[in-house]
Amino acid sequence: MTKQERAGSGTLLAAAEAVAKRLGKLKPQVAIVLGSGLAGVADAVRDPVRIPYREIPGFPEPGAPGHKGELVGGTLESTPVLVQSGRFHLYEGQAPALAALPTRLFATLGVKTIVVTNAAGGIRRSFRPPTLMLIADHINLMFRNPLVGPVEEGEERFPDMSDPYDPALRALARQVARDERIPLEEGVYAALLGPSFESPAEIRMLERIGADAVGMSTVPEVIAARARGLRCLGFSSITNVASGLSAQKLSHLEVLEAGKQVAGQLEQLIRGVLKRL
Ligand code: HPA
Repeated sequence: MTKQERAGSGTLLAAAEAVAKRLGKLKPQVAIVLGSGLAGVADAVRDPVRIPYREIPGFPEPGAPGHKGELVGGTLESTPVLVQSGRFHLYEGQAPALAALPTRLFATLGVKTIVVTNAAGGIRRSFRPPTLMLIADHINLMFRNPLVGPVEEGEERFPDMSDPYDPALRALARQVARDERIPLEEGVYAALLGPSFESPAEIRMLERIGADAVGMSTVPEVIAARARGLRCLGFSSITNVASGLSAQKLSHLEVLEAGKQVAGQLEQLIRGVLKRL
């Protein structure tokens, strides 16, 4: 049995059952996926139910530094939420279906909307990190897809991807940013496999094909979310200028530090969106 198959529907149902049991009466409507350096949002959840990954069938411990490894259920701005603190990256050697397992779990639990966040390098020349970018669209350069394999129950073989990031939710996020005076850029996120950062020539290529930011996550989750009919809202925390666009060398530590600087604003944005959903 391949890794992909192990993350299939049997695991999904067992995981959903285990999480539903821990959540009790709480029926999360919105899931929030936290990227590198953005774990603070989980601490804002009221009446938190913390579910470590070791208690969830099929969930390994996350390997990336700065990623915790728990789901946190509770309420945020009176909305029942489930926060994913720690994601599974393909660069850890994880199957795309595992990266998407939490997303499919959210859908199975009845979640309707997913907010995905990540740390990313800034490609658009006017970006001054640390800053926040609303994800308008993505380019999948991981050359992997979580839907490869047998069609899962509740999914189509060829799901539409014309609106991966919900236009109404994006309009709402822009409105919240204006009202709360939070600087918010908007652009296209390119996902690469990683784990090495990009070369300057790769960044020039990404710039030419229309990418504004680059990272190593999010796209598998959004593809799975759309296949299940979830509405997606995405934010990149632009933690650094992409490779070759400044004299500085890139480091994960720098990414985590810069992420922390805009984490407060990101939390404010997400809360503002939840209030008006
Ligand atoms: N490249 C890829 N992923 C990233 C970067 C970057 O420059 N910064 C944060 N995540």
